[in-house]
Amino acid sequence: MLKPNKLANNNFLSSLDLSTYEVFHILELSNNFKNKKINIEFNNKVLGLIFDKSSTRTRVSFQVAMTRLGGTTIDLNPTTSQIRRGEPIKDTARVLSRYCDIIAIRTFDHSDLEEYAKWSTKPVINALTDLEHPCQALADFLTIQEEFLNFKDVILTFVGDGNNVANSLILCGALLGVEVRIACPKGYEPNSLVIKKAYEIYKNKDLLKITNDPITAVQGANVLYTDVWSSMGEENQKEEKDKDFLGFTIDHKLVRNADKDAIILHCLPAYREKEITDEVFESKRSRIFEQAENRMHVQQALLSCLLS
Ligand code: CP
Ligand code: NVA
Repeated sequence: MLKPNKLANNNFLSSLDLSTYEVFHILELSNNFKNKKINIEFNNKVLGLIFDKSSTRTRVSFQVAMTRLGGTTIDLNPTTSQIRRGEPIKDTARVLSRYCDIIAIRTFDHSDLEEYAKWSTKPVINALTDLEHPCQALADFLTIQEEFLNFKDVILTFVGDGNNVANSLILCGALLGVEVRIACPKGYEPNSLVIKKAYEIYKNKDLLKITNDPITAVQGANVLYTDVWSSMGEENQKEEKDKDFLGFTIDHKLVRNADKDAIILHCLPAYREKEITDEVFESKRSRIFEQAENRMHVQQALLSCLLS
């Protein structure tokens, strides 16, 4: 049951900006938008989109979500604006918050996002930083909720780099009480502060496991999830990482070790035969395109909460 919204005018920089109740609230609202059970109008509201890195899903799903809410978006490309020409973030943030009602930012350093949020008088949303991708995690858990009745019965195994996507899955998983296992090569573990925070949230500490062994990590798992081995900004590490991640591909052998009804997720874009085989990507267990669609529904819900 939806209760009064406490998210209005807040920032969403991290999964940790939400309480457990608020995550469930956004998932319920997303489901209502998806099934056309509600209609919320924000006529004339403007979402500013600042993307210092490339994007297909996040950018377009924000644009469509805002259009569906009756608002509009402004796409701020760093190459055609003053943003990457040395104008201080604090100046850009103060100017944009006089034009826009809400701002979504994709950038490298999480501290730059925090700087925007510090100076903006309007809500700021994390559209991905090197540290977190919290909008993605909301869509991931909506996709998982559509398959399984109770989060408490779900084991989610992420196989790959302990990156922004893994960090947000851990934090959101902790809020929802989902058992999360991360299998990554040595040296590629998720952010240590994220792990510490997640352990503080989990009532049962056994529900989060970080391991270097993908085979044991997938035993009994209901959800197998992966992401690129080299994230945006890590292009120069690609060759080295391709070697370090050998054995961490989600292939049919790994899938065979998981629960027989396990579903497959990938935030996209995907590199076939690297982090996932084409066979598994295209298999009937894949929910990858449902997951991509859900980005739009959760962002519509998120925007409607922050703008209310
Ligand atoms: N998953 C995701 O964020 O995709 P984009 O980089 O295309 O936005
Ligand atoms: N970890 C990836 C996610 C892309 C959506 C990256 O940061 O490039």
